[in-house]
Amino acid sequence: MRLVLLGPPGAGKGTQGEALAHRYGVTHISSGELFRQQIAADTPLGRQVRQYLADGLLVPDDLVFDLIGAAVSQSVASAGGYVLDGFPRTLAQAERAHDMAAQAGVVADAVVLLVLPDDIARQRVLGRADGADGRIDDHDRAVIDRRLAVYHAETEPLIDFYQRRGVLATIDASGTPEQVTSAAIEAIQRLAPAR
Ligand code: AP5
Ligand code: MG
Repeated sequence: MRLVLLGPPGAGKGTQGEALAHRYGVTHISSGELFRQQIAADTPLGRQVRQYLADGLLVPDDLVFDLIGAAVSQSVASAGGYVLDGFPRTLAQAERAHDMAAQAGVVADAVVLLVLPDDIARQRVLGRADGADGRIDDHDRAVIDRRLAVYHAETEPLIDFYQRRGVLATIDASGTPEQVTSAAIEAIQRLAPAR
Protein backbone atom coordinates (compact mmCIF):
# COMPACT_ATOMS: atom_id res chain seq x y z
CA MET A 1 0.00 0.00 0.00
CA ARG A 2 1.24 3.45 -0.93
CA LEU A 3 -0.54 6.34 0.77
CA VAL A 4 -0.18 10.10 1.04
CA LEU A 5 -1.78 12.04 3.91
CA LEU A 6 -2.87 15.63 3.35
CA GLY A 7 -4.22 18.05 5.93
CA PRO A 8 -3.55 21.14 8.01
CA PRO A 9 -1.32 21.22 11.10
CA GLY A 10 -3.09 19.29 13.86
CA ALA A 11 -5.37 17.39 11.45
CA GLY A 12 -3.92 14.08 12.64
CA LYS A 13 -1.49 13.19 9.86
CA GLY A 14 0.98 11.80 12.40
CA THR A 15 -1.67 9.96 14.42
CA GLN A 16 -3.33 8.46 11.32
CA GLY A 17 0.04 7.87 9.66
CA GLU A 18 1.04 5.56 12.51
CA ALA A 19 -2.30 3.73 12.52
CA LEU A 20 -2.49 3.26 8.74
CA ALA A 21 1.16 2.20 8.43
CA HIS A 22 0.48 -0.43 11.11
CA ARG A 23 -2.72 -1.53 9.36
CA TYR A 24 -1.02 -2.02 5.98
CA GLY A 25 2.40 -3.18 7.24
CA VAL A 26 4.35 -0.34 5.64
CA THR A 27 6.55 2.46 6.96
CA HIS A 28 5.19 5.78 8.22
CA ILE A 29 7.35 8.58 6.80
CA SER A 30 6.79 11.99 8.42
CA SER A 31 8.81 14.72 6.72
CA GLY A 32 8.50 16.96 9.79
CA GLU A 33 9.71 14.12 12.04
CA LEU A 34 12.70 13.48 9.76
CA PHE A 35 13.63 17.18 9.99
CA ARG A 36 13.17 17.21 13.78
CA GLN A 37 15.50 14.19 14.04
CA GLN A 38 18.12 16.06 12.01
CA ILE A 39 17.71 19.12 14.26
CA ALA A 40 17.98 17.04 17.44
CA ALA A 41 21.15 15.36 16.14
CA ASP A 42 22.54 18.80 15.18
CA THR A 43 23.53 17.62 11.69
CA PRO A 44 24.45 20.12 8.94
CA LEU A 45 20.97 19.59 7.42
CA GLY A 46 19.40 20.06 10.85
CA ARG A 47 21.18 23.39 11.25
CA GLN A 48 20.02 24.48 7.79
CA VAL A 49 16.33 23.69 8.38
CA ARG A 50 15.91 24.63 12.04
CA GLN A 51 14.80 28.22 11.52
CA TYR A 52 12.23 27.30 8.87
CA LEU A 53 10.52 24.90 11.28
CA ALA A 54 10.72 27.37 14.17
CA ASP A 55 9.09 30.06 12.00
CA GLY A 56 6.42 27.75 10.54
CA LEU A 57 7.72 28.23 7.00
CA LEU A 58 8.37 25.58 4.36
CA VAL A 59 11.88 24.20 4.01
CA PRO A 60 13.28 24.84 0.48
CA ASP A 61 12.67 21.96 -1.93
CA ASP A 62 16.34 21.08 -2.48
CA LEU A 63 16.62 20.28 1.24
CA VAL A 64 13.42 18.21 1.18
CA PHE A 65 13.86 15.79 -1.72
CA ASP A 66 17.08 13.99 -0.74
CA LEU A 67 15.78 13.15 2.72
CA ILE A 68 12.29 12.06 1.60
CA GLY A 69 13.50 10.30 -1.54
CA ALA A 70 15.87 8.12 0.48
CA ALA A 71 13.17 7.30 3.06
CA VAL A 72 10.64 6.37 0.36
CA SER A 73 13.13 4.14 -1.51
CA GLN A 74 14.07 2.41 1.72
CA SER A 75 10.44 1.85 2.69
CA VAL A 76 9.48 0.50 -0.73
CA ALA A 77 12.47 -1.88 -0.67
CA SER A 78 11.84 -3.15 2.86
CA ALA A 79 8.05 -3.01 3.20
CA GLY A 80 6.71 -2.65 -0.37
CA GLY A 81 4.97 0.63 0.31
CA TYR A 82 4.76 3.80 2.40
CA VAL A 83 2.54 6.20 4.25
CA LEU A 84 3.76 9.71 3.50
CA ASP A 85 2.83 12.38 6.03
CA GLY A 86 3.75 16.01 5.33
CA PHE A 87 5.08 15.46 1.85
CA PRO A 88 4.36 16.61 -0.81
CA ARG A 89 3.32 20.02 0.44
CA THR A 90 3.44 22.26 -2.63
CA LEU A 91 2.32 21.76 -6.23
CA ALA A 92 5.96 21.82 -7.34
CA GLN A 93 6.78 19.04 -4.85
CA ALA A 94 3.71 17.04 -5.91
CA GLU A 95 4.55 17.24 -9.61
CA ARG A 96 8.20 16.33 -9.11
CA ALA A 97 7.32 13.54 -6.66
CA HIS A 98 4.72 12.16 -9.06
CA ASP A 99 7.26 12.04 -11.92
CA MET A 100 9.85 10.33 -9.73
CA ALA A 101 7.30 7.82 -8.39
CA ALA A 102 5.97 7.10 -11.89
CA GLN A 103 9.50 6.33 -13.11
CA ALA A 104 10.04 3.97 -10.20
CA GLY A 105 6.54 2.44 -10.55
CA VAL A 106 5.55 3.45 -7.01
CA VAL A 107 2.84 6.10 -7.52
CA ALA A 108 0.46 6.52 -4.54
CA ASP A 109 -2.65 4.28 -4.49
CA ALA A 110 -4.64 6.79 -2.46
CA VAL A 111 -4.33 10.28 -1.00
CA VAL A 112 -6.20 10.76 2.26
CA LEU A 113 -7.30 14.35 2.89
CA LEU A 114 -7.97 15.02 6.58
CA VAL A 115 -10.43 17.91 6.79
CA LEU A 116 -10.45 19.94 10.01
CA PRO A 117 -11.55 23.53 10.73
CA ASP A 118 -8.70 25.89 11.66
CA ASP A 119 -10.01 26.57 15.17
CA ILE A 120 -9.97 22.86 16.11
CA ALA A 121 -6.57 22.43 14.47
CA ARG A 122 -5.21 25.33 16.56
CA GLN A 123 -6.62 23.82 19.76
CA ARG A 124 -5.01 20.44 19.04
CA VAL A 125 -1.59 21.96 18.33
CA LEU A 126 -1.78 24.16 21.45
CA GLY A 127 -2.86 21.10 23.44
CA ARG A 128 0.30 19.31 22.39
CA ALA A 129 2.46 22.33 23.26
CA ASP A 130 1.91 21.70 26.97
CA GLY A 131 2.82 18.01 26.89
CA ALA A 132 6.08 16.10 26.57
CA ASP A 133 5.71 16.03 22.75
CA GLY A 134 5.69 19.85 22.51
CA ARG A 135 7.61 21.13 19.48
CA ILE A 136 9.46 24.35 18.66
CA ASP A 137 6.58 25.38 16.37
CA ASP A 138 3.70 24.62 18.80
CA HIS A 139 3.94 27.39 21.39
CA ASP A 140 3.62 30.66 19.53
CA ARG A 141 0.13 31.46 18.20
CA ALA A 142 1.59 33.55 15.39
CA VAL A 143 3.67 30.56 14.24
CA ILE A 144 0.64 28.24 14.39
CA ASP A 145 -1.35 30.75 12.33
CA ARG A 146 1.51 30.95 9.82
CA ARG A 147 1.56 27.13 9.50
CA LEU A 148 -2.19 27.21 8.81
CA ALA A 149 -1.80 30.05 6.29
CA VAL A 150 1.02 28.19 4.51
CA TYR A 151 -1.22 25.12 4.35
CA HIS A 152 -4.10 27.05 2.78
CA ALA A 153 -1.87 28.87 0.29
CA GLU A 154 0.70 26.21 -0.67
CA THR A 155 -0.77 22.80 0.12
CA GLU A 156 -4.50 23.10 -0.58
CA PRO A 157 -3.93 23.30 -4.37
CA LEU A 158 -2.84 19.65 -4.13
CA ILE A 159 -6.45 18.69 -3.43
CA ASP A 160 -7.36 19.49 -7.03
CA PHE A 161 -4.13 17.89 -8.32
CA TYR A 162 -5.03 14.53 -6.72
CA GLN A 163 -8.76 14.80 -7.34
CA ARG A 164 -8.06 15.05 -11.08
CA ARG A 165 -6.01 11.85 -10.82
CA GLY A 166 -8.91 10.05 -9.11
CA VAL A 167 -6.97 9.09 -5.99
CA LEU A 168 -8.39 11.50 -3.39
CA ALA A 169 -10.29 10.27 -0.32
CA THR A 170 -11.76 13.14 1.71
CA ILE A 171 -12.24 12.34 5.41
CA ASP A 172 -13.80 14.31 8.28
CA ALA A 173 -10.91 14.50 10.79
CA SER A 174 -12.94 15.92 13.70
CA GLY A 175 -13.99 12.56 15.20
CA THR A 176 -11.99 10.37 17.55
CA PRO A 177 -8.69 8.98 16.20
CA GLU A 178 -10.35 5.55 15.87
CA GLN A 179 -13.31 6.95 13.91
CA VAL A 180 -10.95 8.77 11.55
CA THR A 181 -8.85 5.64 11.00
CA SER A 182 -11.95 3.55 10.20
CA ALA A 183 -13.26 6.17 7.76
CA ALA A 184 -9.85 6.35 6.09
CA ILE A 185 -9.59 2.55 5.71
CA GLU A 186 -13.08 2.37 4.19
CA ALA A 187 -12.29 5.14 1.71
CA ILE A 188 -8.92 3.59 0.80
CA GLN A 189 -10.69 0.27 0.21
CA ARG A 190 -12.98 1.95 -2.29
CA LEU A 191 -10.08 3.60 -4.12
CA ALA A 192 -7.69 0.64 -4.08
CA PRO A 193 -9.83 -2.50 -3.68
CA ALA A 194 -7.02 -4.79 -4.76
CA ARG A 195 -4.77 -3.79 -1.83
P1 AP5 B 1 4.95 18.69 10.16
O1 AP5 B 1 5.71 17.98 11.19
O2 AP5 B 1 4.42 17.94 9.02
O3 AP5 B 1 3.83 19.51 10.92
P2 AP5 B 1 2.36 19.98 10.53
O4 AP5 B 1 1.95 19.78 9.13
O5 AP5 B 1 2.27 21.38 11.05
O6 AP5 B 1 1.42 19.02 11.30
P3 AP5 B 1 1.48 18.46 12.79
O7 AP5 B 1 2.56 17.46 12.89
O8 AP5 B 1 1.45 19.56 13.78
O9 AP5 B 1 0.03 17.81 12.86
P4 AP5 B 1 -0.48 16.41 12.34
O10 AP5 B 1 -1.43 16.61 11.20
O11 AP5 B 1 0.64 15.45 12.16
O12 AP5 B 1 -1.37 15.97 13.57
P5 AP5 B 1 -0.99 15.04 14.82
O13 AP5 B 1 -1.33 13.64 14.53
O14 AP5 B 1 0.38 15.35 15.29
O15 AP5 B 1 5.87 19.85 9.56
C1 AP5 B 1 6.58 20.71 10.43
C2 AP5 B 1 7.46 21.66 9.64
O16 AP5 B 1 8.44 20.90 8.89
C3 AP5 B 1 6.79 22.53 8.57
O17 AP5 B 1 6.21 23.70 9.13
C4 AP5 B 1 7.95 22.84 7.65
O18 AP5 B 1 8.79 23.82 8.22
C5 AP5 B 1 8.72 21.52 7.64
N1 AP5 B 1 8.30 20.60 6.56
C6 AP5 B 1 7.74 19.37 6.72
N2 AP5 B 1 7.48 18.80 5.53
C7 AP5 B 1 7.86 19.68 4.58
C8 AP5 B 1 7.84 19.68 3.16
N3 AP5 B 1 7.34 18.63 2.47
N4 AP5 B 1 8.30 20.77 2.50
C9 AP5 B 1 8.81 21.83 3.17
N5 AP5 B 1 8.87 21.90 4.53
C10 AP5 B 1 8.39 20.84 5.23
O19 AP5 B 1 -2.05 15.58 15.89
C11 AP5 B 1 -1.91 16.84 16.50
C12 AP5 B 1 -2.34 16.76 17.97
O20 AP5 B 1 -3.72 16.44 18.02
C13 AP5 B 1 -1.63 15.66 18.76
O21 AP5 B 1 -1.44 16.09 20.08
C14 AP5 B 1 -2.59 14.48 18.69
O22 AP5 B 1 -2.46 13.63 19.78
C15 AP5 B 1 -3.93 15.18 18.65
N6 AP5 B 1 -4.93 14.45 17.84
C16 AP5 B 1 -4.72 13.78 16.67
N7 AP5 B 1 -5.86 13.26 16.21
C17 AP5 B 1 -6.83 13.63 17.08
C18 AP5 B 1 -8.25 13.40 17.13
N8 AP5 B 1 -8.89 12.67 16.19
N9 AP5 B 1 -8.94 13.93 18.16
C19 AP5 B 1 -8.31 14.66 19.12
N10 AP5 B 1 -6.97 14.91 19.14
C20 AP5 B 1 -6.24 14.39 18.13
MG1 MG C 1 2.71 15.56 12.24
